[in-house]
Amino acid sequence: MRIPLIAGNWKMHNTAARTRELLGALLHELGDYSGPAEVAVCPPFTSLAAAAECLQNTSLVLGAQNMHYEEKGAYTGEISPLMLAELGCRYVILGHSERRQYFGEDDALVSRKVQAALRYGLVPILCVGELLEQRQARVTEAVIRIQLAGGLAGLTPQQVAGLVIAYEPVWAIGTGRTASPADAQQVNAYIRQVVAEFFGDAAAQAVRILYGGSVNAGNAAELLGQADVDGALVGGASLDAAGFAAIVRAAR
Ligand code: 13P
Repeated sequence: MRIPLIAGNWKMHNTAARTRELLGALLHELGDYSGPAEVAVCPPFTSLAAAAECLQNTSLVLGAQNMHYEEKGAYTGEISPLMLAELGCRYVILGHSERRQYFGEDDALVSRKVQAALRYGLVPILCVGELLEQRQARVTEAVIRIQLAGGLAGLTPQQVAGLVIAYEPVWAIGTGRTASPADAQQVNAYIRQVVAEFFGDAAAQAVRILYGGSVNAGNAAELLGQADVDGALVGGASLDAAGFAAIVRAAR
């Protein structure tokens, strides 16, 4: 059985002080929530230490939003997998469309990051998704296939089984325009099919595939009810404690 994962991608929001407030409120909202979903928050780098402190002795886990692929070195402004692991991160979001779009990340770079994350015991949340013009041109599956082939290159079936993949159609991110549950299901099922083709059925059945893009308390239950949607990667709605808690509770 795949354990659902609800992960909040805070993006470039929340100072350390605000992080303490928001996590205090979120823990209050979640009360004694004990599953079935696993809950992760991914604050900016500068708030990770504060978040780690707040989450001690709770069931919530910590993730980061990006990282470099080297352990250390002359890479001004970068953060290494070792640094994230030491802070207690379990997850790291890699290849988010905002990284691809604004910071020039390509599949080759994302692949190096995925492999580095695994070396340090971090679980990659590998993001894939098509642009609006690609969907309109009906090349969604081809785009996703290329991103998966690149991002997962060189991994073993066992490594892929432990990964998280997030389908995030770029046109649905921050737009309020969610993919329909049927569209999310269709692409998530396609991702599982490609994983089966590349790495075999066991890896495909084990890998968790999330949906992300304008998920909120109102649409979460239907999205999370789809057979191949194993959780959600939540942006804007994760900045509100009550809203995010409601999404967590929508996971069955
Ligand atoms: P929104 O939920 O704000 O659309 O963002 C989705 C996202 O990019 C999560 O990684």
